[in-house]
Amino acid sequence: MAISKLSQLGAQMIKSLEKGAPGLLLLTSRPRAVYTHHFRNCSLQPLKHEHFSTMAANKAEEDGNEEEQKISVTFVDKDGEEKHIKVPIGLSMLEAALENDIELEGACEGSLACSTCHVIVKDMEYYNKLEDPNDEENDMLDLAFGLTETSRLGCQVIAKPELDGIRLKLPTGT
Ligand code: FES
Repeated sequence: MAISKLSQLGAQMIKSLEKGAPGLLLLTSRPRAVYTHHFRNCSLQPLKHEHFSTMAANKAEEDGNEEEQKISVTFVDKDGEEKHIKVPIGLSMLEAALENDIELEGACEGSLACSTCHVIVKDMEYYNKLEDPNDEENDMLDLAFGLTETSRLGCQVIAKPELDGIRLKLPTGT
C-alpha cells in the first residue's frame, strides 16, 4: 500500500519535472534531468524488488523449518537393545513407537484409560523438561508395573524441540 502510494507520488513528480512545473523547479536549483534520473533509477524500482525478495526468502525459510521439525528419540527395549528414530514435533511417543514397530501397546489409544504405554525416561534432565503429569495420568501410572520416579505414559509425552535426544526405556513387565 505504502509502496503503491510512493510510486504514484514519484510518477507524478517525474511528470511534473518533465513538463517543467514551475512550483517544483522553484524548490531546487538542480537541473530537471538530475531529479528525473534519481527518481527513475533509485527511489522506486529497488523497493519493489526487495519486497518480493524478502517474501520469497521467508517462504523458503518456512519450508526448510518444516523439514527440520523432527527430534531424535531412542527407545530401549527389555533386552537393552536401542532403536533410534526421528519423531515429528507434535507426535506422541506412543504414536511414534507404533509407527516404528516398537513394542509399546497403547491399549486405550491415548485416552488415559490404561497404563500399557508406560515408558521410563532414562535421563532426569529430559524428565524435567516434560510437562507435569495431570491427575488422570498419575492415576494410571499408579497402576503401571515397574513404576519408577521418571515413569510417564508414552501417549502423554509429546515431541517438542527440547526433547531432542531423549531416551525412553520400555519396562520389563510389559
Ligand atoms: Fe492408554 Fe496411554 S495408551 S493411557
